[in-house]
Parts: sequence; structure tokens; C-alpha cells
Amino acid sequence: MIKASIYGGSGYAGGEILRILLDHPEVSVQQVTSRQFNGQPVSLVHPNLRNKTDLVFTDPKNLDKCDLLFVALPNGKSMGLMGELMTKAHKIIDLGADFRLHGKENFQYWYKTEHISPELLPKFVCSIVELHRDEIKNSSYIAGAGCEATVSILSLYPLIKHKLIEDKIIIDAKMSSSQAGLKASLSSHHPERSGVVRSYMPTGHRHTAEICQELEVYGNKLDVAISATAIDMVRGLLVTIHTIPRNNITEKDIWKAYREEYKNEPFIRIVKESQGLYRYPEPKILQGTNYCDIGFEMDTVSRRLVVIGAIDNLVKGTAGQAVQAMNIMYGFPETTGLGFPGLHPI
Ligand SMILES: NC(=O)c1ccc[n+]([C@@H]2O[C@H](COP(=O)([O-])OP(=O)(O)OC[C@H]3O[C@@H](n4cnc5c(N)ncnc54)[C@H](OP(=O)(O)O)[C@@H]3O)[C@@H](O)[C@H]2O)c1
Repeated sequence: MIKASIYGGSGYAGGEILRILLDHPEVSVQQVTSRQFNGQPVSLVHPNLRNKTDLVFTDPKNLDKCDLLFVALPNGKSMGLMGELMTKAHKIIDLGADFRLHGKENFQYWYKTEHISPELLPKFVCSIVELHRDEIKNSSYIAGAGCEATVSILSLYPLIKHKLIEDKIIIDAKMSSSQAGLKASLSSHHPERSGVVRSYMPTGHRHTAEICQELEVYGNKLDVAISATAIDMVRGLLVTIHTIPRNNITEKDIWKAYREEYKNEPFIRIVKESQGLYRYPEPKILQGTNYCDIGFEMDTVSRRLVVIGAIDNLVKGTAGQAVQAMNIMYGFPETTGLGFPGLHPI
């Protein structure tokens, strides 16, 4: 049994880690930190965990040593603390953006701030198990991939690896409100957020850097453009990706690439049905699950290959993929604690 703690456990990502770990047979949760809720039961903030645990929040200053530390702080907060946190745990999984990019210049360009601990960047391995299983096995420090990046990378990886599409890629992302975290702002205030179809970031999305970093190793420099729209959904993320198939590529080639890369992946499903209501990936039925559903459609009229990817941003997009990586790091069966199949209807 390993002892795990969660640093920043009152937030949405931290709460999801806790929910999954409480049912994990190989993990005992030692501490969950919060400054605001120090001393209060975790179920006060995560009411779904009532009677599931009697843990109370600990002040981050009183973090004890543990085997594994999950760090779930807002972006920009963990880079200054990481050196100290490394003295507290043998292994660390950081869910934020601070250790995702390999180069400090790239980080500074996209996050508009200098990296405080660039010397630690090479120690971190990306959490996307489907691409980094072997490295994760031998690593002590994992950087959790961003949620838009995760679903986009998983949707595109077989196409890039098998050289089936051109380098220009346009990602239209539909975002849910929980992606913004627990802290309220004017834009998340109910009268402002409810019912929106709000063009949130038509250009300049930071996850562009992660997508290029992860996929360019398979070939050409990519020309990735993301446009993100906030929609009226609490959990979930859908990407509709417009790509140009290379000459003479057929649907059969696309199927073959996805099958080859994902046939043994427990959390990737190719969803492309000819009948039924849920013919393509849809985040609604993925809530609480660690699945990434991927579908596609060839448009021969406009010579496009449209790829559709869906996840729960808080599970496969954050906490679930972190636990999947943890399972790999410790040699537990990869799906342990992640078997929830979702709800229907929901
Ligand atoms: N939300 C998503 O869908 C999502 C998806 C992918 C990745 N992520 C990543 O996960 C990380 C956490 O996101 P979230 O949505 O869970 O954020 P959140 O809801 O705002 O939670 C942040 C947590 O960090 C704690 N915290 C903030 N500043 C701190 C500090 N200086 N020292 C110690 N604790 C501090 C907060 O608790 P106190 O203020 O009580 O201490 C809270 O527990 C982010 O880096 C984000 O990029 C989130």
C-alpha cells in the first residue's frame, strides 16, 4: 500500500484525484492540503465524498513526507515550490502547466512569465500513458498534460505517426466551466456563464505548445491552430479537428492507423457508428470516466478529414490520467481504480 498526499486538494482536480484514490486498493490517502479550508472535513468542499472518508484538510505548511505527492495548484504556482516538494515525496505527479514544456523559452513565450526552476524541467515526463508508457514506468516525476492537449494529442497521434495528414491542423474546442477551476470570477458568475456559447480564445491557446511538442517528434513541424469556445456544460470537453488528408488516403487507412495504435488501449474507444443517438464521441456520457472517445469522418467534397475527440476534462483530462500514470509508475494494473463506465441517461 502506498501513502499518497494531495497538495491543493480543495480544487476540482484535487477533488477528483481524491475521489478516485479513495477507491484504489493499493493507495492510502495520507493528507489533503488547503489553506482556506485547513482543519475542515474534506467532504465540506467535496460533498460527493460524505461518509467515504473522515480526512480533514491540512495546512500546506504541515505537509508530511509521503511516497507519492499529487500537486494540483493553479498554473504558475508549483514551479517555485517544486524543489521543496521533492524533499517530501519519492514521486510527484504535477497536474499544472509548469513542467509540461521541455524548454524554458517555450514556457516563457506561452505563459508570459519566466520559469523559476528551469533546471527541473528535464526531470518530468508527460502523463499521457498511450504515448509515454515506458518512460513513465521508469520516472519519478510526471507532468500532467493539459486537458485540451490530451484529447487533441490522442485524437491526432495515429494520423501523424502514420503520416496520413498534412501539417496544418485546426482544432475547434468546446469547453466546460469546470476547466476554469474552483475560484469564481465575473466571467464564471452564473448570470454571465449560464447559457453561453462564448468565443473564449479564438487564437493563442497555450496548449498549442504541448500538442506540437508531443506530436512533432513523429515527423514534420506542425501548424496547429486552436479556437476555444466556452459552452454551457459543467464537465466535459469536445474537440472537432479539421485536417487535410494526404493524397489518396482512404477511410480504410485511417481505421488501420487507429486500430494499430489503440487496439490494446483500455481507455481509448473509436466511436463511429452508423446508427443510434451517440454516433460520434460525446462528452455527456463520459462524465466521471477515464475514456477518450475518438471518431472521424472523411469529407470528400472539401477534402477534409474531420476528427472528433471527447473526454471528461477532470478525469482523462486530469485526475484519471494522473492515476493511470501512477498505476504504471508503481506496476499496478493500469486500469485499477478507473473502471467507472459512466452513466446513461445523465
Ligand atoms: N480544471 C480542469 O479541468 C483541469 C484540467 C486539466 C488540468 N488542470 C490543472 O490542474 C491544476 C489545478 O486545477 P483546478 O481546476 O483544480 O484548480 P482550482 O480548482 O483552482 O484548485 C487549486 C487548488 O490549489 C490550492 N492553492 C492555490 N494556490 C495555492 C498556493 N499558493 N499554495 C498552496 N495551495 C494553493 C487551492 O486551495 P487553497 O486556496 O484552499 O489553498 C486549491 O485546492 C491546474 O494547474 C490546472 O492546469 C485542471
